Amino acid sequence: MSQRIKIKALLESEQTGIDITVKGWVRAFRQNRFIALNDGSTNNNIQIVVDFENTDPALLKRITFGAAISVTGELIPSQGQGQKVEVIAKEIEILGDCDPEEYPLQPKRQTLEFLREKAHLRFRTNTFGAIFRVRNSLAFAVHQFFQERGFIYLHTPIITASDAEGAGETFHVTNFDLANPPKTENGEIDFSQDFFAKATNLTVSGQLEGELGAMALSDIYTFGPTFRAENSNTTRHLAEFWMIEPEVAFNDLDDNMDLAEDMLKYVIKYALDKNADDIEFLTQRLTEEEKQKPQNERSEMTLVDKLQFCLDNDFERLTYTEAIDILKESTPNKKKKFQYPVEGWGTDLQSEHERYLVEKHFKKPVILTDYPKEIKAFYMRQNEPDANGRETVRAMDILFPGIGEIVGGSQREERLDKLEQRMDEMGIPKDELWWYLDTRRFGACPHAGFGLGFERLVLFVTGMGNIRDVIPFPRYPKNAEF
Ligand code: 4AD
Ligand code: MG
Repeated sequence: MSQRIKIKALLESEQTGIDITVKGWVRAFRQNRFIALNDGSTNNNIQIVVDFENTDPALLKRITFGAAISVTGELIPSQGQGQKVEVIAKEIEILGDCDPEEYPLQPKRQTLEFLREKAHLRFRTNTFGAIFRVRNSLAFAVHQFFQERGFIYLHTPIITASDAEGAGETFHVTNFDLANPPKTENGEIDFSQDFFAKATNLTVSGQLEGELGAMALSDIYTFGPTFRAENSNTTRHLAEFWMIEPEVAFNDLDDNMDLAEDMLKYVIKYALDKNADDIEFLTQRLTEEEKQKPQNERSEMTLVDKLQFCLDNDFERLTYTEAIDILKESTPNKKKKFQYPVEGWGTDLQSEHERYLVEKHFKKPVILTDYPKEIKAFYMRQNEPDANGRETVRAMDILFPGIGEIVGGSQREERLDKLEQRMDEMGIPKDELWWYLDTRRFGACPHAGFGLGFERLVLFVTGMGNIRDVIPFPRYPKNAEF
């Protein structure tokens, strides 16, 4: 049996006149003569030339769209346009038939909605092939970025008893018989009899455990799945998503912003270099899609331009308070074009506001800092109240064009008394987080970190419009298929 060569390697091959074996799925079969074959290693197909006059007609009939085949033949410089090399088939074997009458995919453009229902097959389309190769590169680049800088990859637990963000959006983990869970005398479910002898849930963030690691290893990062039962049926939310959470001892908020900006630029550049073909394909896809929109809604930049622009420009850094002033004075606010008018200081920003700042006002990525403490998590470092008595925390959110918030982070409250006071105010149980508080008791130091929503990054780099299309099998309200 001859060795399979990947199509990507074949297409880049300088050596012709040799016999090779290639395997993949048929993307097209024209004139009983030209097979376009793809194996997922690249968006490009290799052309197989079939000597149909000397090939069994029964075999020719089985070379259908979607069929898996193996071809052995000679690699030659291509006679036709558009490719450097092609294969003159000497032997074709059908590995798996694909009945075109039954096969849900068609050799034409199909809607993303349709393909979402066929998520088990959508990898076989050009668009999804490109997306998942880009996703792979971004994941690898994240590790490479942190590893090059001496960060320790820390595996934080997926099952936990805490709700780091305090938003109450957790999924329960139990092995009780749900029809008949043990009850306490008060009629409440008795979790002391459950598997972990306490109520547990899937993690919403690895941060709290990540901080424990950073208090000894100095620079750590996590990269794992996180789960949120928020009922946000939007194009930006998933119930199961991957998050990257670096945590660095001795860093303050400025260091934290620098780290986040460097990381984003590094991984975007990596994908641009490594996946040039895929990003070129996705750029054309987006340009086509934009043509369906009215002129004034079309983006001024192509996808590649947007990515390059992001690399070439410093992210704009300003405080929440400065952002509110800009938004209050903005034309859409004065003309009452915002669905949520910006009136006062203290309310959370809606994505329409974030996108105005990024896409219209600054026209580049923006980092907002120092949010009101009332709208942020308990662990963020408290600032001194300002001249107007406004209380803020050392938070930072990074906002991206077309995405809104892509990163959320902060400098942490390392002062035990301040932290405990805030937990009391917010009703966060101190006894359950005794281990977290211990880091503030023993050798506490300033530290900072952030969380990057991995799918939001993939969304940005691929130019896709819906987060459900950049994770292999999306989990969202009323859907856990596949
Ligand atoms: O802003 P968040 O909630 O921050 C945290 O969880 C902190 N513990 C991070 C840290 O400081 N270590 O979430 C971080 C990022 C968001 O900016 C967003 O990109 C993404 O996670 N994210 C989601 N992505 C997809 N679906 C959801 N439901 C998401 N919720 C948050
Ligand atoms: Mg956030």
